[in-house]
Amino acid sequence: MKTYILSAVSGLALVAASAAIADPEAEVLHYWTSGGEAKSVAVLQEEFAANGGTWTDMPVAGGGGDAAMTALRARVLSGNAPTAVQLKGPAIQEWYEEGVLADISSVAEANNWDAVLPASIAGHMKCEGTWCAAPVNVHRVDWIWANASVLEANGIEMPTTWDEFNAAAEKLQAAGIIPLAHGGQAWQDATVFEAVALGILGPDGYRKAFVDLDMDTIKSDEMKAVFDQMRTMRGFVDDNFSGRDWNLATAMVMNGEAAFQIMGDWAKGEFMAAGKAPGEDFLCASTPGDGFLYNVDSFAMFNVDGEDKKAGQELLAKLVVGENFQEVFNLNKGSIPARTDVSLDAFDQCATLSASDMNASSEGGSLLPSYAHGMALRGAQAGAITDTVTAHFNSDMSADDAVNMLADAIANSM
Ligand code: GAL
Repeated sequence: MKTYILSAVSGLALVAASAAIADPEAEVLHYWTSGGEAKSVAVLQEEFAANGGTWTDMPVAGGGGDAAMTALRARVLSGNAPTAVQLKGPAIQEWYEEGVLADISSVAEANNWDAVLPASIAGHMKCEGTWCAAPVNVHRVDWIWANASVLEANGIEMPTTWDEFNAAAEKLQAAGIIPLAHGGQAWQDATVFEAVALGILGPDGYRKAFVDLDMDTIKSDEMKAVFDQMRTMRGFVDDNFSGRDWNLATAMVMNGEAAFQIMGDWAKGEFMAAGKAPGEDFLCASTPGDGFLYNVDSFAMFNVDGEDKKAGQELLAKLVVGENFQEVFNLNKGSIPARTDVSLDAFDQCATLSASDMNASSEGGSLLPSYAHGMALRGAQAGAITDTVTAHFNSDMSADDAVNMLADAIANSM
C-alpha cells in the first residue's frame, strides 16, 4: 500500500515536472517583413528567446496580410496549423467558429487583461466569452505622411480639407513632384478609400456604410463624392504605381520623389527604421475630417498537440500583452500600445497625437474600426467592397456605376 502511494505521488510529480519543463516552442505566421516591421517582430523574437522559447519564423510577405491569410488557410486545411498567427478583427471569430482556435483565457485572467485593455479592444479578443487572441497595438489608419522639406520648398502646409489636399497636389504636380506615393494593390486602394470616406461621409456615415452596411448610405450622393475624390487622387499618382509595395511608396516620400502618402502608421515604422525624425524629416497629420480608424494587430493561437507548443502559446500570449513588449514593440512599429497603463513618455508626437485623438474619438463616438484592415466586417463583405474600390480606381468607371457595383457586390456577399 505504502509503496503504491509513493509511486502514485512520484508519478504525479513527474507529470507536473514534465509540463513545467516543456520548452516553449512556437511557429509564428506573420506578415511583418518590411524594414520597420522586421525590427518590430525581432523584439518579440528576442523576448521569447530570453524566456527560454524557441521561435520558428513563418513570414509571408505581402502588406495587409492577404498572402499570409491564404497561407494560413492552406496550413489549417492540411491539418497542420501554425502555433500562433498574426490575426485580427472578425477573422478571429471566423476561425473560432471553425473550431480551430486555442483558449488563452487562463493567461488573460492570470495577467488581468480585462483591467489593462480598453473594453473596445478586449471585445475583439474574445470569442463567446473566452479569450481567443492577444492584442499587440493600436494602429491608426487615417494618416497622411509628408516629406517636410518638399512641403516647405513648395510653400505647402499639411492639408486639413480634401480641397486643400487637391490644391496642394496640383501645385506639387506642376513643380514636377509626385503628389501622392501609392502602391496599386487592392488593400492600399482600400486604405486610401476608407480615409477619404471617413472625411467625406463623416464618422456616422462611415459607420452606417462600413459597419452597418446600410444601403441608403452606400448608394448616397456622398458615397459618389467619395468615388469622385478617389478619381481625382488617381490623377496624383505616378504611372508606375501598379503593384508597388507600400513601403516602397513610403521610401518615395522619404527621398523626396513624392510629397504625401496616405497610409496607416506602420509607415512611421519605416521612416523611423530609416533614421528619419518626425516633425523634421517627415510630418504626420490625420487625414481631413473627424474620427479615428483603428486597426489592432493581435495574435491568435491555433489548436496544436504537444506540451512544448502549448507552453509556447502561453508564453507568447503573456509576452505580447506584457508592459515591456507593448512599449518597445510599438516604438518600432509606429503604433501605440493596446494597454492603457503603458507610459507614452518615450513616444513621439505622432504617437501622442494618435493616443489623444483615440481617447477623444472614443468619448465622442467617432472611434471606428478600419474596414480596409479587417476590423469592421467579415472577410466576404470587406472583400466585396475592396473589389469595387480597386475596380473603380483602376478604370474610368463613373462614380454612379461604382456606387451601383458597390451595392450589388455587398448584397451578393451576404
Ligand atoms: C496592416 C497590419 C500592420 C502592417 C500593415 C502592412 O494590416 O495591421 O501591422 O503590417 O498591414 O502590412
